[in-house]
This record gives sequence, C-alpha cells and structure tokens, in this order.
Amino acid sequence: MSSKLGDVKNRVVSCVNCNLSKTRTNAVPGIGNEKSDIIFVGEAPGRNEDMQGKPFVGTAGQILSEALEYAGFARDQVYITNVVKCRPPNNRQPITEERTACRPYLSEELEIIKPKIICILGNTAYSSLLDGREITKNRGKIVKNNGQLYFVTVHPAAIIYNPGLRQVLKDDFVLLAQALDKLRKGLDVEI
Ligand code: URA
Repeated sequence: MSSKLGDVKNRVVSCVNCNLSKTRTNAVPGIGNEKSDIIFVGEAPGRNEDMQGKPFVGTAGQILSEALEYAGFARDQVYITNVVKCRPPNNRQPITEERTACRPYLSEELEIIKPKIICILGNTAYSSLLDGREITKNRGKIVKNNGQLYFVTVHPAAIIYNPGLRQVLKDDFVLLAQALDKLRKGLDVEI
C-alpha cells in the first residue's frame, strides 16, 4: 500500500515502542477506506485479531459487522481501528504506557483521514479521545471536542456479556448514520 496510511501501517506492523511487541503475534493496523468520512475506534486487538493481523475479525467483530449492516454502513467503505494496535496478554485492558506509546499512530490515522465524525466504541477509546467526560451520559450522543465531532457508543464486546446491548448498538449506529447523512449534506447535527 503506497499511501500515507500505508506508511502508518508499515510502521505499526514493525513497531517495538512498548512491551506488547514482545507478546503479540501480529500488530494490527487500522483497516478500511482511506477516503472514509467516518472512523470507528475500538480498544485493542483480541486473540483472533492478533492471529490475523486485522481489527475486529473475532466475535466482537461479527457483532460490529452486524450492527454496521443494520444501519446501512458498508464495512469496507468505513475505516476501523483501535487505540492500541497490539493485543494485551489475556485481553486485559491496555495500560497507560501502552496507550501513550501507541497514541501517535491513532493521531496520524485521524489526521490523514480527517473524518467528519469519529465513532467511539467503549471506554478505552472514550477515555483516550475524550478524557474527563462521562461515557454513560454521552452514549448515543454526539460530542464536540476541539472542533472534532465524536459519536459515543458501547463496545461490541460488551454485548457478549450483556446481550441486551445488541439492539442498543444497532440503534446507536442508525442515529450515527442519520447524523453522518446530515453532515454530508452540510446540515447541523444535534450535539
Ligand atoms: N476488540 C477491539 O477493541 N478491537 C478489536 O479489533 C477486536 C476486539
């Protein structure tokens, strides 16, 4: 891939900036359409992602795909990435050092794509991108921070433990699709 994102991807796959590089099988760069006007940001790769080197290909990925399809998003037309690009051992949450070491890659992805809106999937992405605000209060809502629009929803993996959230994620994605449609038309969205 000879593009700016391809350059980021090449650096991610050979990154040794934190200890996760010692335990991972593959680093997992973001994937999707470089011209997308929306980015979905998760936490970190799990076991399947670590094996395949691609984000959201395991159970959480299937749930994400189902919700995207429900709301009319074509998965290959959006861009999907994680806060941390390597799998933490036993799928524990990434620690501060790991997030800090990996953060420049996410910043570069956001800078290159310049999305109209960033969809935050769960707590880790929330605290990395919008620290200091309450996630529960903002779920299903658009938040503006430093001129960037964010949409906040649950992490697809939360549905594995709480099946009631499956429809919540789908309904949130429908709201997100409606908001993106308005933004594409140059209309205001409710914040
Ligand atoms: N969970 C995430 O946050 N990201 C993935 O890529 C897979 C599961």
